[in-house]
Amino acid sequence: MYDETLRDQKEVVLCEDGTNTLYSKEFDEPYHSTKDGALHESLEKHVKPSFSLKSNQDTLTILDICFGLGYNTFATLYYIKKHNLTTKVHILSPEFDEGLVRSLSTFNFPPEFESIQYIIEAISQNLRYEDEQFKIEILLGDARESIPKVKEKIDIVYQDAFSPAHNPLLWTYEWFRDVRAICKEDAILTTYSTAAAIRLGLYENGFYIFVHRAEMMRYSTVASLQMLEELEYIDMELKKVRNSEARSMKDREYLKDMHS
Ligand SMILES: C[S@@+](CC[C@H](N)C(=O)[O-])C[C@H]1O[C@@H](n2cnc3c(N)ncnc32)[C@H](O)[C@@H]1O
Repeated sequence: MYDETLRDQKEVVLCEDGTNTLYSKEFDEPYHSTKDGALHESLEKHVKPSFSLKSNQDTLTILDICFGLGYNTFATLYYIKKHNLTTKVHILSPEFDEGLVRSLSTFNFPPEFESIQYIIEAISQNLRYEDEQFKIEILLGDARESIPKVKEKIDIVYQDAFSPAHNPLLWTYEWFRDVRAICKEDAILTTYSTAAAIRLGLYENGFYIFVHRAEMMRYSTVASLQMLEELEYIDMELKKVRNSEARSMKDREYLKDMHS
């Protein structure tokens, strides 16, 4: 599916919110929606809904899939600092592009990340960071191999891989089964994908599905292992009746790409 020789070929792209992202030639896709904006998308689709649903917890373990430019992780730290939260956060983030992570100390991030530049530099250099409040670890390598080995139990999953069309093995039923296996019983998952196939893959693994709406943003999906009263619920059984063709994605349909 992807050509690793293209891994180092990336171009900086300016998003409509004024923040920078990259375009990946390997995946033929930008790292963020240039319309929604890198920082805006991280905050609105992942960080804010997650922290609003988990505001009662003193400690949170977050799975950030995948690290990329680190916007979701850095936006989480920015949000916590901005709101003077005392939440202790442990972030685990798979990523197989070591060169990208190591280059982040010189990436032109938005001014919002200035106060955490020392954390960006530490991660760029050591692939991890730890202080009394934050622990961030990059799980270097293929996420399909690293996720089943994770020992921590996860509260929040930011499912932010490249699109299902371009990176299918991080969106299949089996992928979500592996993610679910390391989740706490009340874990939530946030994703930009609203596709029926993706929602079905989550639903078949025990997640309830909800619509998430934010201002100046296309709607997105929140999935939860427990029923949530505060969000707009989607009845997936009804969706299956109305869209009888819809199927979750399966590893076997894409595994040939994994080995090509
Ligand atoms: C859309 S980008 C993630 C954007 C990121 N969340 C951010 O905020 O900058 C997807 C990332 O997944 C990584 N990736 C793709 N397939 C992977 C795999 N099987 N294992 C680990 N990382 C993978 C890519 O190298 C890329 O950095």
